[in-house]
Amino acid sequence: MSRAATARVYAQDTPFAREVRTGLAQEQKSIPCTWLYDRRGSELFEEITQLREYYPTRSELALLRDHLSNFGRDFGKHACVLEIGAGASRKTRLLLAALRAPYAYLSVDISEEFLYEALQELQSEFPEVRCTPLFLDFTEPSALSKIGQRLPAEGPRLGFFPGSTIGNLDPEEAGRLLSRLGSVLEEEGALMIGVDSTCDPKVLLPAYDDARGVTAAFNLNLLVRVNRELDGDFRLENFRHEARFDAEHSRVEMHLVSLLPQRVSVLGRTYLFEAGESIHTENSHKFSRAQFLQIAAKAGWSEGAIWTHPDSGFEVHVLRRLRAHPPLPIKRN
Ligand SMILES: C[S@@+](CC[C@H](N)C(=O)[O-])C[C@H]1O[C@@H](n2cnc3c(N)ncnc32)[C@H](O)[C@@H]1O
Repeated sequence: MSRAATARVYAQDTPFAREVRTGLAQEQKSIPCTWLYDRRGSELFEEITQLREYYPTRSELALLRDHLSNFGRDFGKHACVLEIGAGASRKTRLLLAALRAPYAYLSVDISEEFLYEALQELQSEFPEVRCTPLFLDFTEPSALSKIGQRLPAEGPRLGFFPGSTIGNLDPEEAGRLLSRLGSVLEEEGALMIGVDSTCDPKVLLPAYDDARGVTAAFNLNLLVRVNRELDGDFRLENFRHEARFDAEHSRVEMHLVSLLPQRVSVLGRTYLFEAGESIHTENSHKFSRAQFLQIAAKAGWSEGAIWTHPDSGFEVHVLRRLRAHPPLPIKRN
């Protein structure tokens, strides 16, 4: 059997293979944004966070620098911090430095190598904190119970979910994730979460389609990944990156648009593209404060502190757990 054929056999049944196969067979072709984050994708995302056009990281870091020392003084000693979608854990450093003698840090991410490397660096900077990496898809219904088993019983629990990653989920999915997080963080737990509500296309579109083309490279890297891991034959020069603002759903969408009619093969199947047809690769929902608080309340969280950036309007919420709230029914995404 040829190497390509062997790779095909092994790749057929991975979650990545299943979701790409299903997504490319739909009328509006799509691949979930989770798969943008292989090692190269995570590196490119880090580059995006440094761009002039990408206001969310700058805004959130400024808010954390302004408010974390007061928060850390008031929050219980020996906290266990659970971060989902941690990436490079840059913001985590500010949080751990502000807390009083944090006991443990559990970092969850889908980008395996990047997660282990980022956590190794963090552990050397905070040798007294028990750092644990967990390579998991946090949208999987069973993920949060696996996370719960790894959290130490001691100390108050603090969830950390920065980067407005919650916006990658639609309102219903976001509610389910917040509900599951609530079950893991328990009654006395708190959740610090970054939420973006910007709705001005003049600000949003450059943030998701920058002048240097870093976001374009991030999006196109998905095709490189499909070619490498799923025996695909996408020709990158035949696709272009596009960011669109969908006002009705209050979200930015990323697409990879086919420049010409073409056929592409993935895992031995052929997919036809017309000129102008796209693969939808990411949603970034922009939740208003009222909408986000409503989603959070339904999922068992009550409003706590809200820190708002004066220029961009980006917000960090510190939610508190509502007592004895039943989990929202489990439904697969
Ligand atoms: C928008 S980036 C945010 C990174 C970092 N938290 C920050 O604030 O800059 C999203 C992060 O979530 C991770 N991620 C995306 N989908 C995921 C999933 N379903 N399960 C686990 N991690 C995921 C990505 O690998 C990436 O590190």
